[in-house]
Amino acid sequence: MSPRRPYVLLSAAVSVDGYLDDASPERLLLSSPEDFAEVDEVRAGVDAILVGAGTVRADNPRLLVRSAEHRRDRVARGLPANPVKVTLSSSGDLDPAAAFFTAGEAERLVYLPDSAVAAATGRLGAVATVVGGGDPLDLITLLEDLAGRGIGRLMVEGGAEVHTLFLAHDVVDEVRLAVAPLFVGDPAAPRLLGPGARRERLRLVDVRQLGDTAVLRYLVR
Ligand SMILES: NC(=O)c1ccc[n+]([C@@H]2O[C@H](COP(=O)([O-])OP(=O)(O)OC[C@H]3O[C@@H](n4cnc5c(N)ncnc54)[C@H](OP(=O)(O)O)[C@@H]3O)[C@@H](O)[C@H]2O)c1
Repeated sequence: MSPRRPYVLLSAAVSVDGYLDDASPERLLLSSPEDFAEVDEVRAGVDAILVGAGTVRADNPRLLVRSAEHRRDRVARGLPANPVKVTLSSSGDLDPAAAFFTAGEAERLVYLPDSAVAAATGRLGAVATVVGGGDPLDLITLLEDLAGRGIGRLMVEGGAEVHTLFLAHDVVDEVRLAVAPLFVGDPAAPRLLGPGARRERLRLVDVRQLGDTAVLRYLVR
């Protein structure tokens, strides 16, 4: 019997004062090159990577494994070269030309409320599999559907609303936090979390320096 939901690793880079980005239209690069390289390795070790539709629109991420060596290792293990890409949206307002849909050969899944599936399939059906997950979209249904598709390890890479959603539903197993040595100090910028995340203490299991970035690893349970 497949597990009810994947193991969920939430990964983010933040400023010292807990921001995910600044408020400018360009993405703020927070991590060191050494941290980016390790995040690439972590990506290579998961079955799927999920970001919210807000991150697809704001950052236009490719969500691919950059290192050719890691991609070769995956293929040698019988896996696709890149993990499955996953996003969720209530509006379905996603551009089919976004790198999420066009970069690389990875399978792409878009989770939406059931009522938004028909319209979104018309727009995105050629570049992704559009899946209804209840009305409104239910995170547990989404995770069970991913498990049913063979996703055993899921990496959640933001943004703020999605981190909060996962933590509020208590479905995060591990947190990898890269703390970059700079302050943002702008209340208009997105923070790691919005209101609603659970307040339990996490278990700190690892602290390392990668270049100028501190990398903290926590287990949630
Ligand atoms: N530093 C980092 O590690 C990092 C990583 C990722 C992102 N970021 C930053 O985070 C910011 C984006 O964060 P964000 O909070 O605006 O966006 P987000 O969390 O990526 O996405 C939010 C969107 O996800 C969809 N969504 C969220 N909860 C949902 C639910 N329950 N049901 C259905 N859809 C749901 C909605 O899409 P619709 O609006 O389409 O309905 C919502 O607007 C950007 O500034 C980006 O640069 C930083």
